[in-house]
Amino acid sequence: MDAVQAPIVQVIGDLIRQTPGTISLGQGVVHYGPPPTALEAVRGALADPATHEYQDGSGLPGLVDRLAAKLREENAIEIGRGTSVMVTAGANMAFMHAVFAITEPGDDIILNVPFYFNHEMAIQMAGCRVVPVVTDERYQPRIDALRTAVTDRTRAIVTVSPNNPSGAVFGEGTLRAVSDLCRERGLYHIADEVYEYFTFDAARHVSAAAFPGAADYTITMFSLSKAYGFAGWRIGYVTYPDHLHAAMAKSQDTILVCPTVAAQVGAIAALEVGRSYCAPYVAELADVRNVVVSKLNALKPLATVPAADGAFYVLLKVETDRSPMRIAEQLIREHRVAVIPGPAFGMSDGCYFRVAYGALQKDTVAEGIGRLVTGLRKILS
Ligand SMILES: Cc1ncc(COP(=O)(O)O)c(C=O)c1O
Repeated sequence: MDAVQAPIVQVIGDLIRQTPGTISLGQGVVHYGPPPTALEAVRGALADPATHEYQDGSGLPGLVDRLAAKLREENAIEIGRGTSVMVTAGANMAFMHAVFAITEPGDDIILNVPFYFNHEMAIQMAGCRVVPVVTDERYQPRIDALRTAVTDRTRAIVTVSPNNPSGAVFGEGTLRAVSDLCRERGLYHIADEVYEYFTFDAARHVSAAAFPGAADYTITMFSLSKAYGFAGWRIGYVTYPDHLHAAMAKSQDTILVCPTVAAQVGAIAALEVGRSYCAPYVAELADVRNVVVSKLNALKPLATVPAADGAFYVLLKVETDRSPMRIAEQLIREHRVAVIPGPAFGMSDGCYFRVAYGALQKDTVAEGIGRLVTGLRKILS
């Protein structure tokens, strides 16, 4: 555990608490809560004795059926023909199960850099090694670099699209090339698709498991945390080839036994509302994203921010040799704005900051970005 990084959001959270009035562009959360019908369903579930008992490890049949329909309609992933689905306490747990299911200690898993910090942490906790592979200047995977990084010890390549922390949406051709490489080299493709609904302009989300034949080696994780404002209810789900079921079920049984029953009842109601629930919020986020990008562009050439077509993040590159953690601390203490420094995402070569804009209203984000721009100018002058 000593080798595993400390959860950066908590580290930054402590600094924020010491500096009242700080605007946090730190944590990756949305500003809205669950659909009201989901809350009513949870209230109703409390009176049912079955809510208080252990239930099926893979999830309530009613939820599993609804997920199968959603996966078929929206993701072109067919459950039941060689592919299983399991409900987990969030996509993070799904990732942990996947790592346990496919590795032995000492194996390698390839992460595209920037990566999602909990992926690195999970791989290390399982006694495996992270092989970081740099992406291009728009944070898209580089197939040549991935190909070179594969060895006999490699078990999987992970993609996160739309991406945390860069906001990049990986092109369909790029995802297909990653998937083809996994097939050629006998690897699993772990696809984190928790931001599937969060795409802007012409960007389109595609599920890697839907490519012909890819369901046999693709493990995909989804979440209700962002789409349905469900983060505290801890509901995610994972699809995987059937041959992994025994291993996935062992991990689930040991860590969770079964997903929280009341939360699953809420999830069924949320899925009944469907993706239209978050559509207005995504449209709003697209506007906020435009404000964020145009204001940050004013920092050129001191800092640059590539276009980000998805999720609710941008990854700002600052031209300095100074420590990003020090600058992040200074931004909080002296300018009352919080962002997450790049090393948490494997960006240790250069100075990067993730700016998250999902948790706040447009005016507050604009104020926060204003502080960030002023702060960086001052700190770096
Ligand atoms: C890429 C990515 N995967 C997984 C998660 C965790 O989702 P969950 O709340 O479903 O565990 C997050 C949360 O920020 C994320 O950004």
